[in-house]
Amino acid sequence: MRTYLVTGGAGFIGSNYIHYMFKKYDNEIRIINVDALTYAGNLENLKDIEDRDNYTFVKANICDRDAINKIFEENDIDRVVHFAAESHVDRSIVNPEIFVQTNVLGTATMLNAAKKAWELPDGTFKEGKKFLHVSTDEVYGSLDDDPTAFFYETTPYSPHSPYSASKASSDMLVKAYMDTYKFPANITNCSNNYGPYQFPEKLIPLIINNALAGKTLPVYGDGKNVRDWLYVEDHAKAIDMVQEKGRLFETYNVGGHNEKQNIEIVKTIIDVLKDELDDSDPRKANLSYDLIKYVEDRKGHDRRYAIAPDKIKSEIGWEPETMFKEGIRKTIKWYFDHMDWMANVTSGDYEKYYEKMYKNK
Ligand SMILES: NC(=O)c1ccc[n+]([C@@H]2O[C@H](COP(=O)([O-])OP(=O)(O)OC[C@H]3O[C@@H](n4cnc5c(N)ncnc54)[C@H](O)[C@@H]3O)[C@@H](O)[C@H]2O)c1
Repeated sequence: MRTYLVTGGAGFIGSNYIHYMFKKYDNEIRIINVDALTYAGNLENLKDIEDRDNYTFVKANICDRDAINKIFEENDIDRVVHFAAESHVDRSIVNPEIFVQTNVLGTATMLNAAKKAWELPDGTFKEGKKFLHVSTDEVYGSLDDDPTAFFYETTPYSPHSPYSASKASSDMLVKAYMDTYKFPANITNCSNNYGPYQFPEKLIPLIINNALAGKTLPVYGDGKNVRDWLYVEDHAKAIDMVQEKGRLFETYNVGGHNEKQNIEIVKTIIDVLKDELDDSDPRKANLSYDLIKYVEDRKGHDRRYAIAPDKIKSEIGWEPETMFKEGIRKTIKWYFDHMDWMANVTSGDYEKYYEKMYKNK
């Protein structure tokens, strides 16, 4: 049975990935989820799988060398899927240092621990071991509005925010391990994800939450910054396919072929919510574009990100499957049906869940 060590599995993409993997492989795999449970880590995301015999949660910081080495010593890890990171650009502008600690030093700790566990006396690595570093398209910088310009795997790095600089640094470390030691790894650089379990500081859940509460909908600058949006389950599938079918040492860009201006996203959410809510629902009366409020632009706000996911399609056969129209409806419906999750997250109550569920384990 193949054993996965997933870092950051209590976060947005990590928890969706764990759900995806159990849905796909059921009892054929084992997953160890290591997460420090920062404000962004929420074990309630994994409530439905926490009792599985082939799932283990370990509360640990990826910067804690001893804790990470111990996991490798006690388990024969076959795959590492490294999600754990500080992930919010706005927070990185306010407090860059924690981004360097977690994203750069934490990645170094993970690489060293895997190398130590997997390296043979002759400097080669045990057969079949693989490390996948999950990264972002933001490392490539910003594109202008020319619709024919895209990020490719060969695009030079040009990060602008402390977040993207820390992710670029961690990518470079992984590349250095691959070049220097032939360490068996891949990097994926993905565009903006959306879907269930996303912390409501990020655009889509924030707008859904505020719109339902009749609060203003803050939009940075002129609202015309463009992001490429990918449904999170499609990302989970891409990660699995890269580990199983990709060539080692390669980087694969993962994108949704779905560029949207921020303002389009906000208006779509309002339109879909109006459709979904019953006429008798008092929340419907408040819903209108009048809630939109343009606010001072984010410092150094990148204008446009766009990925051409040609390499992953031609080499591995992965393509985004969820059309935005369908994905955004599914997402809105999920938040709509999980207002208790949203209330817990926004009130901070989810932090008590670990105490309640794990204090005796
Ligand atoms: N969200 C996106 O649109 C997007 C797009 C491309 C790439 N990525 C990358 O994907 C990964 C996951 O992103 P996300 O949106 O799920 O992030 P998230 O913020 O929702 O989750 C991050 C998780 O990592 C954990 N964590 C943070 N610091 C840790 C530490 N020091 N030790 C152990 N665990 C720690 C948190 O508790 C949380 O569970 C990140 O590496 C991010 O850079 C995200």
